[in-house]
Amino acid sequence: MTHVHGSWLRAADAARLLGADGAVAPTIFAEMSALADATGAINLGQGFPDDEGPAEVLETAREAILSGQNQYPPGRGAPVLREAIAEHQERFYGLSWDPETDIIATAGATEAIAATLLALLDGPDDEVVVFEPFYDAYAAVIGLAGARIVPVRLRWPDFQPDLDELSAAVTDRTRVILVNDPHNPTGTVFSPDVRARIVELAERHDAVIVTDEVYEHLVFGDPHVPIATVPG
Ligand SMILES: Cc1ncc(COP(=O)(O)O)c(C=O)c1O
Repeated sequence: MTHVHGSWLRAADAARLLGADGAVAPTIFAEMSALADATGAINLGQGFPDDEGPAEVLETAREAILSGQNQYPPGRGAPVLREAIAEHQERFYGLSWDPETDIIATAGATEAIAATLLALLDGPDDEVVVFEPFYDAYAAVIGLAGARIVPVRLRWPDFQPDLDELSAAVTDRTRVILVNDPHNPTGTVFSPDVRARIVELAERHDAVIVTDEVYEHLVFGDPHVPIATVPG
């Protein structure tokens, strides 16, 4: 890694967007979308929905804005939303969270991940174990925090991590194990063995499991199992 100044440059470098000459490249999403535009190709690079979404959802949002719900919410999120999130976790997973103390609403998952990692990581001695390939924002935020990224490869054909490799990656330097399950971009769902091992390793090395489950409702077959339901 070249010596870079400024936290935004550190983030760009960590996301491998910084050339040897110091020039910053566009993200993979911007690059692929521009190529798709230029060539007329179908854009599989970014998850643009190909329709407008359900009319009643758009209408409900429009009505809410018109009826005055267009001001700052409380910093932790509107109570009605936090209660709905708690109900969701109870209904789908049997997880009981207190909407007053256990739930925060953010502007998307990326803000939640960034805030959490920046809060937990404390410089170059802290390591974050991630499953590769990963959502590009992970590397950028870990770089922003000045911490070290430790990737564990997900390999064809089932894209489960190798348990020995995973065990070797987690050490006393591991501050966070960053789990993305269901996983983008492979579509894999971690096996019960993998989830149990992650919990066991986190306990043994006093690491925090941070989990990104944005695709929880896009699974086929068995319902999603949040790692928070695993004993330990
Ligand atoms: C694994 C993963 N997490 C989070 C996001 C983005 O979430 P949000 O748009 O809510 O910030 C993406 C988008 O590609 C993703 O792949």
